[in-house]
Amino acid sequence: MQSTVIAPSILSANFAKLGEEVDNVLRAGADWVHFDVMDNHYVPNLTIGPLVCEALRKHGVTAPIDVHLMVEPVDRIVPDFAKAGATMITFHPEASRHVHRTVQLIKSLGCQAGLVLNPATPVEVLDYVLEELDMVLLMSVNPGFGGQAFIPSALTKLRAVRERIDNSGKAIRLEIDGGVKPDNIAEIAAAGADTFVAGSAIFGQPDYADVVRRMKDAVAATRR
Ligand code: DX5
Ligand code: ZN
Repeated sequence: MQSTVIAPSILSANFAKLGEEVDNVLRAGADWVHFDVMDNHYVPNLTIGPLVCEALRKHGVTAPIDVHLMVEPVDRIVPDFAKAGATMITFHPEASRHVHRTVQLIKSLGCQAGLVLNPATPVEVLDYVLEELDMVLLMSVNPGFGGQAFIPSALTKLRAVRERIDNSGKAIRLEIDGGVKPDNIAEIAAAGADTFVAGSAIFGQPDYADVVRRMKDAVAATRR
């Protein structure tokens, strides 16, 4: 099991003052910045691209930037994000014609690579590629929007992927994204996640530090 990471999704931040929002949430104890890229094609919403990632780096953000690509095709945009300062790049296998090639492309550009499984995507998609990955991201909502409810079957899937990662013996992170809140994070952690994305649960509250602390405390309690 890897160290606990809280990765606020800036999708729910105030985009009119994004630099300040990111500074504040990192100062509040968050570990990474989760950066949701949507293309109005693979998912029915349109968000931010490499320019905004680069702008955060120029603003002085040094924390890992966890780029979640919900775009199709994938490969065309990967080098742009590597150049813009992405730390890790995750993508959906359905959106790439050649999954193994995309993983190699991301790693060849010096970024960590991860595969994202939608709620109905079977875990078998990890066969033959898991050991190449730095991270597996399980969606606990259908991708496209913040503020949706956690889909309970993600817990069963977390346990299945946890077992695969443990059997691999590799230091692969298991990230969960969608509907994560202080009051359900303990059971999500107990099911095997070590990396937690939360958008509306953090940015929807006035005191980011309080939410991040409650999340970390709840995870820590399951590790004792
Ligand atoms: C959904 C995104 C998520 C989303 C999470 O497509 O990948 O990162 O912002 O938002 P919450 O935490 O509000 O469910
Ligand atoms: Zn995301």
